[in-house]
Amino acid sequence: MKSTSTRAFQHAAVITVGALLLGACGASDDGASGQAGPGSFEGRGPITYVAGKDTTGSVQPMLDRWNKLHPKEKVTFIQLPTDADAQRQQMIQNAETKSDAYTVLSLDVVWTSEFAAHQWIDKLPEKQYPLDRMLRPVVETAKYRDGLYAVPASSDGGMLYYRTDLLKKAGISKPPTTWAEMKADCATVKKLPEAEGMSCYAGQFQKYEGLTVNFSEAVNSAGGVVTHASGKPDVDSPEAKKGLDFLVDSFEDSTIPKEGITYQEEDGRQAFQSGKLIFHRNWPYVYSLAGKSDIKGKYAVAPLPGLNGLGSSSLGGHNLALSSFAKNKATALDFMKFFSSEATTAEFLKVSSLAPPYASLYKDKALVGQYPYLPVLKESILRAVPRPRVVQYGDVTAAMQREAYAALTGSKSSAQALKDLQEALQKSAGQ
Ligand code: GLC
Repeated sequence: MKSTSTRAFQHAAVITVGALLLGACGASDDGASGQAGPGSFEGRGPITYVAGKDTTGSVQPMLDRWNKLHPKEKVTFIQLPTDADAQRQQMIQNAETKSDAYTVLSLDVVWTSEFAAHQWIDKLPEKQYPLDRMLRPVVETAKYRDGLYAVPASSDGGMLYYRTDLLKKAGISKPPTTWAEMKADCATVKKLPEAEGMSCYAGQFQKYEGLTVNFSEAVNSAGGVVTHASGKPDVDSPEAKKGLDFLVDSFEDSTIPKEGITYQEEDGRQAFQSGKLIFHRNWPYVYSLAGKSDIKGKYAVAPLPGLNGLGSSSLGGHNLALSSFAKNKATALDFMKFFSSEATTAEFLKVSSLAPPYASLYKDKALVGQYPYLPVLKESILRAVPRPRVVQYGDVTAAMQREAYAALTGSKSSAQALKDLQEALQKSAGQ
């Protein structure tokens, strides 16, 4: 049944959204997948762990711990570029050549459907993982149809980083909850001599997955949707236009600096840490790194602002998936349990402020003491809006990036960009 459905995916010219969304599949729930040979989580020996470049520096020390305890089943870290689209390309290339070079993949939460439908990753034995202790929306990102195809390792929610020292000095007592407040706060802060030459705000606006995230957040934070939960595209709306216009106008009035159009996560982090930005949208990993920079003790985080009140984040994060073409799958499953365990993810939180999948860690006293924003982050993850969960995610995100970028760079009006995006999304959904 699986190979038939995969062939259908590969050959169908047009695929309906309904067929691509989570639905019944009829696979056995012990998770013993038929892929790569029935129940074949066999073989012990060396494996690889493949992820985007580790900007936190905490991955190798964790692998060293495993390697010390498992000298015959060592894990080698293969680091891919920081850019999510480039990671996806390399993982797909590895799968298409059926290479066994990659064993455990750190899969962006938005790629599960695509990788599972193409049988590039194995269905996992669901009962072996403590999914009931993890945040529900995070677990959902690891599922395709009725099966578990990845194990949550870290979640991600967008947050508004801001300079506490400057806001305080300007007499602003709390962070903004709306875009208008944020702009007004910037106007006040910029009167301070310390803020000379600073820009108000930036997120990630280069043409890559980060733009999909920032564009979706702007649309959602203005009360619009890109696609409904059913998968139906509905982005050609007045609300979505208000969201996109916030970004377009912010480039025009220099709320966002010109170079913001080239920013990925790391560029924005560097700009914020070197005092170029008053407000910055980024993921939790920045919190701990900024603490080792020049702005140590001078920043805090708040929920993302929106048009008429708080905004909403896109749901981000990474799950561990097992390449169908890998060797030593018994070792891989053990490693995945270790790497996604509560103890490991608590350590990643402590050392590099990565958002854990486990609910209990968000109310752990010591951790909340270290990261006071944890309860807010948990709420933001629970309320976060998933990006479309479709098999042809590559086409969907490419359309979002293309149209949002055209509007931000002024080559299309935002109304035209949204109209064209709606058409493109409808086309790839077969509507
Ligand atoms: C972060 C998120 C991921 C998102 C990416 C975009 O890594 O965890 O979900 O796709 O940023 O750049």
